[in-house]
Amino acid sequence: MKNIVILISGGGSNMAAIVRAAERDRWAERFSARIAAVVSNKPEAGGLAIAATHGIATAVVPHKEFPTREAFDEALAKVVDAHAPALVVLAGFMRILTPGFVGRYAGRLINIHPSLLPAFPGLHTHQRAIDAGCKVAGVTVHQVTTELDHGPILAQAVVPVLPDDTAATLAGRVLAQEHQLYPRAIAGWLADTSGHIL
Ligand code: GAR
Repeated sequence: MKNIVILISGGGSNMAAIVRAAERDRWAERFSARIAAVVSNKPEAGGLAIAATHGIATAVVPHKEFPTREAFDEALAKVVDAHAPALVVLAGFMRILTPGFVGRYAGRLINIHPSLLPAFPGLHTHQRAIDAGCKVAGVTVHQVTTELDHGPILAQAVVPVLPDDTAATLAGRVLAQEHQLYPRAIAGWLADTSGHIL
């Protein structure tokens, strides 16, 4: 069985979309894969309760309790490694990871970012897209490398930027696409690594 560990920091709507897709599309039977655990760096992350209702193991590694990024990442890796992950999925995980952590999961660490990378890495992507006068915006699923919001692109989806958009309305339109794209990208990754055809 391939274990997937999902890291979150907040509401976890992407995580929930992935969990629903895994159930609906029978990832256990098709890819021999399951969501083994959801781990948050914030105890108050709403996604933890959602994961628990699906019977998924949850854990919290509060970053505030660690003096350095390295110490936090080491503690996080211990919790993640307890589930022997084939794939580690960042889903709204809002911490910059150290090169040590990224290297440990090289080739099996993916992220979703709410912009059409390489445009607008970092924060406030929707406002920046509006301010730049972009006519389209979107979302990217990519492999994680040591450079923030970079790395080989696995999948993208595009949405229009409408004339009266605010950062909030654009974020909502992009998020709806995220919920479609991330499960599809993960299923693609699982199909590749299990030799199955989707
Ligand atoms: C999502 O829009 C995700 O793309 C973004 O945070 C949100 C998390 O929402 N991630 C980043 O900005 C990472 N750079 P969720 O907790 O409801 O999935």
